[in-house]
Amino acid sequence: MTYEEVIVEARKHLGRLCKACPVCDGRACGNMIPGPGSKGRGELAVRNYKAWQKLCVCMDTICENRPVDMSLDFLGKRFKYPIFAAPIGAVNIHFGDRYDDMQYNDIMVSACAKAGIAAFTGDGVLPAVMDYATQAIAKNGGIGIPTIKPWDIGTIRKKAEFVKRSGSFAVAMDIDAAGLPFLKNSQPPAGSKTVEELRSIINEIGKPMILKGIMTVKGAEKAVEAGASAIVVSNHGGRVLDQCQSTADVLEDIAKAVNGRIAVLVDGGIRSGIDVFKALALGADGVLICRPFAVAAFGAAEAGVDCYINKLAFELEDTMAMCGAHSLSGITRDMVAYTRE
Ligand SMILES: Cc1cc2nc3c(=O)[nH]c(=O)nc-3n(C[C@H](O)[C@H](O)[C@H](O)COP(=O)(O)O)c2cc1C
Repeated sequence: MTYEEVIVEARKHLGRLCKACPVCDGRACGNMIPGPGSKGRGELAVRNYKAWQKLCVCMDTICENRPVDMSLDFLGKRFKYPIFAAPIGAVNIHFGDRYDDMQYNDIMVSACAKAGIAAFTGDGVLPAVMDYATQAIAKNGGIGIPTIKPWDIGTIRKKAEFVKRSGSFAVAMDIDAAGLPFLKNSQPPAGSKTVEELRSIINEIGKPMILKGIMTVKGAEKAVEAGASAIVVSNHGGRVLDQCQSTADVLEDIAKAVNGRIAVLVDGGIRSGIDVFKALALGADGVLICRPFAVAAFGAAEAGVDCYINKLAFELEDTMAMCGAHSLSGITRDMVAYTRE
């Protein structure tokens, strides 16, 4: 099965909101929320995608001819590729009825773990979402990252109990989620957290914390101060605040400022293994990809997800070999350049 075939199959199962476009560039879904679109004018997912396309890779094949190692050491675990499936919440509302959050997380966690990578799982208002997601992670030997929304502390504590039981190697919080239209004035309440609040949450949960939704150097410094083990440079795919910069535009400065103190992941418009290479060249340790993974799962469940992972790996391997990088640490800034077009 090719990824093109997976996309064709997905179109039969997706609702009317996602078109499973040949390239998932944010144009067709625009500002559709509910749906996989972006908030406000609906242009930020497009900006995220376009920003990676402005970067070119710099070919250099005068180098040793030996196999490429794409493995990533991250928070005490070794992964086959520097790629994670990003979290999705309320998948049926945004993509269609084929799966609820429980079924979706089950497919993603298991398919990713089998392929040697890990999936972040989404959170929902219903406690069952975190319960099932963490059960899926437990079944897969702790290879998966439950992502808790920035609820009030009482709700976070309840979710953290599920997380602790899952044996997950890490936990995440999408600290930017309060901007989601459906979380405004929701019950339980969700909202921003101070450095002190985050520090005590991180201590209480007792697992490496990945803070997702960092878009400034200042935000990254606060994440380090709070005791996070990693950040995800992310604008939530354009779903929490309109007219932000693209993640590709802010990544380099943030990665430089963090300077290896904690790990830096990035998401937003990364679609191919070549885009993954570009993100690593700008200083990321790894990437998250969201919407195309959902399309892959809607097309062919675990087989679709596996097919997309193989496609990404093939493209990354090819790009590394053609640019003379034999390991992830061999991917350097001079291997990408902005086009003058
Ligand atoms: C329908 C939908 C639901 C999402 N739900 C969550 C969520 O529950 N938690 C979260 O941290 N991010 C969520 N995200 C954001 C993604 O994890 C990711 O940060 C974003 O989509 C950027 O990646 P992409 O451009 O590859 O889609 C969601 C995104 C979409 C499109």
